[in-house]
Amino acid sequence: MSKMPESKVGSKLVIGNWKMHGGLRGNEALLQALTHGTKAMSPGLRIGLCVPFPYLAQAQQLLGDSRIEWGAQDLSSHDEGAYTGEVSASMVADFGARYAIVGHSERREYHREGAILVAEKAERALEAGLTPIVCVGETKEEREFAFTERVLSAQLDAVLDRLSVEQAASIVLAYEPVWAIGSGSSASCEDVRDVHHFLRQHLAQKGPAVARIPVLYGGSVKPDNAAGLFSVPEVDGGLVGGASLDAEQFLAICEAAAGTIGMVAAHHDHTGC
Ligand code: 13P
Repeated sequence: MSKMPESKVGSKLVIGNWKMHGGLRGNEALLQALTHGTKAMSPGLRIGLCVPFPYLAQAQQLLGDSRIEWGAQDLSSHDEGAYTGEVSASMVADFGARYAIVGHSERREYHREGAILVAEKAERALEAGLTPIVCVGETKEEREFAFTERVLSAQLDAVLDRLSVEQAASIVLAYEPVWAIGSGSSASCEDVRDVHHFLRQHLAQKGPAVARIPVLYGGSVKPDNAAGLFSVPEVDGGLVGGASLDAEQFLAICEAAAGTIGMVAAHHDHTGC
């Protein structure tokens, strides 16, 4: 097996995905609590929140002076034009956003988004100066039929084939097994380790710089499993759904991520993984 570049041990990235949750008043309390609670955390920890489009302005207003960056959960594959209901990457960027999730399994499933469309969205995000968080993941059935690697390769290759090496080196990848999302139980550390290693190898085929992009795990990341998951080699942080709606839980997950910065494989025993 070829030698893999090691993922960065000096930083971690935790992104909250609010999905279709929130309201102006509740958001305000949550954003203030997170701003306050993250102030003193390790500088090696990067934090982001992907909010529904209508709340981008509120995120910009309330997070502008904080260490938390913000983003959208989707965007259009078009630049502009007669596409009723769509939101372009440049509109998202207008609100100071840093991130845009693309290819979340809920969009692939409920909106029939295919691999090429997801790749186009990633490209639009990069063109607008946003960092796309490209989600890949297999369903329960695909895992049971041992199709995991095939499915992940197809999802990832569509994006890598479309992007230049420089663009591909600027994305964030998130492994989100569909069966773990919203289930209350995450994938096991062993499964996460194996898949992240596979994804890292796959990324390396595009070039060494691409192999070093952050690869996040998502799917029922909670305060009690976060440290274990984040200490798995080649896991650079997490994409957090339900627990990002609760300040106490999200802060605990951020703390857990901060606690694993600089950790080497030999320390795993202390984290339950
Ligand atoms: P949960 O953390 O609620 O399982 O959601 C994960 C997810 O889909 C994040 O994008």
